[in-house]
Amino acid sequence: MRSWLFAPGDDEKKLAKAYGSGADVVIVDLEDSVAAAGKAGARRCALAFLQETAQDASRPRRFVRTNAFATGLADADLDAVMTGAPDGIVLPKSAGGADVTALDAKIAVREALHDLADGSTQIAAIATEAAAAIFGLGTYAGASARLAALTWGGEDLATDIGAAVNKDDGGEWTSPFQLARNLCLFGSAAAGLPAIDTVYTNFRDETGLAAECQAAARDGFAGKLAIHPAQVPVINAAFTPSPEALARAKRVVEAFAAAGDAGVVGLDGEMLDQPHLKAAQNLLARAASAGGGKG
Ligand code: COA
Ligand code: MG
Repeated sequence: MRSWLFAPGDDEKKLAKAYGSGADVVIVDLEDSVAAAGKAGARRCALAFLQETAQDASRPRRFVRTNAFATGLADADLDAVMTGAPDGIVLPKSAGGADVTALDAKIAVREALHDLADGSTQIAAIATEAAAAIFGLGTYAGASARLAALTWGGEDLATDIGAAVNKDDGGEWTSPFQLARNLCLFGSAAAGLPAIDTVYTNFRDETGLAAECQAAARDGFAGKLAIHPAQVPVINAAFTPSPEALARAKRVVEAFAAAGDAGVVGLDGEMLDQPHLKAAQNLLARAASAGGGKG
């Protein structure tokens, strides 16, 4: 799942547009893009969207971002949307694996109540939105079989630590936010999960977005959050392995097979051993599941 596009949960028009954007995942937002007075309306709108799109065989996945546990709104959010059988829930302001385990239990109860298949609802956690959450990034392994991805956020984190900005004048993340990004990457890999890079908020700047995508894909992120439909094709392109990379990965796998599954082989004058084989296999697996689709 490469592109995860947010649309405000109370905006029917944007939800429809997001749905047709080519995003692998549409995130129906009940949290930060919906004002307090709009929360109830957003729940109704989100449910209608989920119900209208339920039967579409080739649809993107539909996740719902609930409000954070600390707001006291999360249970009512789940009550409202779980009847619509979302493909997943995005947990904001996650402090660590224990929060994911708690959400798992809340989801399980509602799946049972609404006759949904046990375990059918996935979870994606936003894992760096408060200073304390940084210290929970190593705790996601085994938190829930539903957990499908970790992602990070730099806006709430900036507020929490009192940072005036999170990017420098050249558009690069400042040091505290580079640390959060990198630890998200390590925490995800340690838990065996794909890492999804955070939003690029300057949505008119496609060149800057493309550069940030390239860097994220290079470093091991599997996808990126989006806030505008125009960002979706840029993200999808950056996180789809190139034909050259795929061809090379196939040759690496074939070289090991041809050598009778040897520990080490030579290819084009380069030594390749087990980490290279694993990386090639991972790339081929990622390409096979690059798109969204509800399956
Ligand atoms: N999902 C679906 N459609 C969107 C969209 C989104 N995230 N962002 C913009 N659009 C639509 C607009 O409604 C507009 O549609 P129209 O041509 O039919 O009128 C079209 O795309 C072009 O939009 P544009 O004028 O370029 O932007 P805008 O000023 O209308 O919107 C934002 C700018 C930032 C308000 C908007 O992109 C947005 O709401 N983003 C999501 C915010 C969010 O969910 N944040 C929470 C996560 S950080
Ligand atoms: Mg936020």
